[in-house]
Amino acid sequence: MGTVTGAKAAYKRYQILALDDPTRDFTVTGNAPLKARAQAKGLIYGSSARYKDLIADPDLANELPVECNMLVPEWEMKWSAGDALLRPTPDRFDFTLADRMAEFAQHHQMLLRGHTLIWHLCVPSWFETGIHTDNAEQLLTQHIQTVAGRYAGKIHSWDVVNEAIEPRDGRSDGLRETLWLKCLGADYIDLAFRTAATADPDALLVYNDYGLEYDTFECEARRIAILKLLERLKAQGTPIHAVGLQSHLDGSETCFNAEKFRRFLSDIASLGLKILITELDVEDKNLPADVAVRDRIVASAYEDFLSVALDETAVIAVITWGLNDPYSWLAETSPRSDGLPIRPLPLDESLNRKLAWQAIARCFDQCPKR
Ligand code: XIL
Repeated sequence: MGTVTGAKAAYKRYQILALDDPTRDFTVTGNAPLKARAQAKGLIYGSSARYKDLIADPDLANELPVECNMLVPEWEMKWSAGDALLRPTPDRFDFTLADRMAEFAQHHQMLLRGHTLIWHLCVPSWFETGIHTDNAEQLLTQHIQTVAGRYAGKIHSWDVVNEAIEPRDGRSDGLRETLWLKCLGADYIDLAFRTAATADPDALLVYNDYGLEYDTFECEARRIAILKLLERLKAQGTPIHAVGLQSHLDGSETCFNAEKFRRFLSDIASLGLKILITELDVEDKNLPADVAVRDRIVASAYEDFLSVALDETAVIAVITWGLNDPYSWLAETSPRSDGLPIRPLPLDESLNRKLAWQAIARCFDQCPKR
């Protein structure tokens, strides 16, 4: 490694170690679950889960409704994800697993969040060659009418469109060059929301996206692009009610600017939109191996971010992308180079509460009531 690269790596290692404050206080009052602490402030706390994990791990299935008052199917309501194939062919639907997740939520009196109706990823193998300009509108409207219609009245909120912006694609409107955009033009987003509003008038209709949290050039461009999209949708009367900020955080990221993020949330709220933190987790792949250090840095990232986010009373829900570490998607997408198990979520492999859980609990306890 060259001297410059070596020096930069050494500085980064120092910066990360400097993130750890062994004296930081994560004390929590009482033993109440996160859902109770959230509800006390008029908030919702929930988690994603996969049906296969709920079936394989009864302890997880028991703990989820204890801590959460909302469930987000992580695979089962997408077009195709993992072992869940909602759309086996262009003209067929298989609701088997989605129905079981809806039944789980109903049985445990949990709110159910739908994720996601229109996305460029998690699509079945036939999609790329199966969508054309002459069938795209029918594909989009039939999917939304059928899926949102089936669960009408049972869904708290739908991520109607997911990850539609990508400034790097170079369009003046900041939209991502997807097959939906190619076949239907930029108005596919408005069409999706109008179709969903008709299919389920009771659901909160959400635009969901990522990479909006940090004071980086990329996040700033994405914030500009998403605000441009939201202003355009509101101006044309699109039935959009809220924005979902996925909030996949990085424990080693050192440039969170609270004031810039507050301003961004305020800009969204000033459009009359609610805000949901929809896929919260804290990646620890670049953090030291030491579990005590790692857990402190992860907990600090949760508290530093969520304490700012929850100051904005337009924020109505916090959902973590998984409840406990072994089931985090980051195990596949962002594993540690040392092979140690990752620790990005509130509970550990034995469903014990971690400092991350305490950090989230403190944020609920200290935030303003809705
Ligand atoms: C991920 C799931 O967690 C994975 O299990 C699956 O293989 C791919 O999708 N942003 C999103 C989520 O909106 O739907 C993604 O979930 C994570 C990134």
